[in-house]
Amino acid sequence: MKVAIVGVSGAVGQEFLRVLDERNFPVDELVLFGSARSAGKTYEFRGKTYMVKELKHNDDFKGVDIAFTSAGAGTSKEFAETITKYGTVMIDNSSAFRMEADVPLVVPEVNAEDAKQRPRGIIANPNCTTIQMVVALKPLEKLSHIKRIHVATYQAASGAGAAAMAELENQYKQIIDGEQPTVEKFAYQLAYNLIPQVDVFTDNGYTKEEMKMFHETRKIMHSDVEVSALCVRVPALRAHSEAVWVETERPVSVEEARKAFEQAEGIVVFDNPENKEYPMPLFVAGKDPVYVGRLRKDLANPNGFTFWCVGDQIKKGAALNAVQIAEYLIKEGDL
Ligand SMILES: NC(=O)c1ccc[n+]([C@@H]2O[C@H](COP(=O)([O-])OP(=O)(O)OC[C@H]3O[C@@H](n4cnc5c(N)ncnc54)[C@H](OP(=O)(O)O)[C@@H]3O)[C@@H](O)[C@H]2O)c1
Repeated sequence: MKVAIVGVSGAVGQEFLRVLDERNFPVDELVLFGSARSAGKTYEFRGKTYMVKELKHNDDFKGVDIAFTSAGAGTSKEFAETITKYGTVMIDNSSAFRMEADVPLVVPEVNAEDAKQRPRGIIANPNCTTIQMVVALKPLEKLSHIKRIHVATYQAASGAGAAAMAELENQYKQIIDGEQPTVEKFAYQLAYNLIPQVDVFTDNGYTKEEMKMFHETRKIMHSDVEVSALCVRVPALRAHSEAVWVETERPVSVEEARKAFEQAEGIVVFDNPENKEYPMPLFVAGKDPVYVGRLRKDLANPNGFTFWCVGDQIKKGAALNAVQIAEYLIKEGDL
């Protein structure tokens, strides 16, 4: 495979290099792209050094089989035509095309087959908070149709990119040194704080991030489920956490749900409250699966079930999910 990574200097781009290597992805040739800011920088991959090219409207993608793009929605929109015009499959991590009818939105554990229908040569990787939630929802949906979801997210700083993660680390240092913390990437100081806003507000009072969870969950699961989300930025560095309450058509017991989670692809059940064992970002950062714990009946709803899930949003929420889509297409002889 000739593989391109667009946005290689970023948090997700760097993860692509690690994930492709870790999973022994069949990379015969690799091409790295960035803006003028990182053009000329070099990165190592499997013992070879590669130089970043500036992304331009030219024929650089001729012969590229697959392009993993993570350079923001504006860049994806501007360059999609350039990237796909010679048949390159573009797996895009941005929000640019997720809700477009002719672009599949794919989480391999849930709707891998959708990736085969891609009239524009583009496959969208869903929003990171949605990916980890739908991985966990899939086995529950098999038990009984999920009608409603309430979810509160606890999102790590790195969800906003490499510079945002650095800002949080720096804020703690600055505060300890008695300095005024630098606030650029988030609306407020994140160190020692929580910010109940991820992305911008929409007309209904929900943020765009919260509305992504509503719309993307329905598209991926082919479902009429309704999702009411509250997304909160927390001072964790990496891995998002979510408290999820689902309402199913018939009551689902904790035992049934636990068994379904245990048998599902991509999920680890880590739920031994008596030993203080439950998933936490500190231990899930850098790991592939979505971890679920705190499994309980919802005391406030006879058809309700509630759980906690944690997933590394740069891995399963971005780079790993995209690579799994490519692996699926290779396995199906469709790439
Ligand atoms: N971080 C996450 O957890 C996460 C999860 C899921 C999806 N995503 C999505 O993935 C994308 C990247 O996120 P990130 O967190 O990796 O951000 P990031 O750390 O800020 O990196 C952004 C990357 O985009 C590149 N870029 C920006 N403008 C460009 C242009 N005109 N041409 C070529 N490259 C350009 C940058 O390259 P230069 O350094 O050369 O400017 C950099 O490599 C975003 O769309 C984001 O929403 C992120």
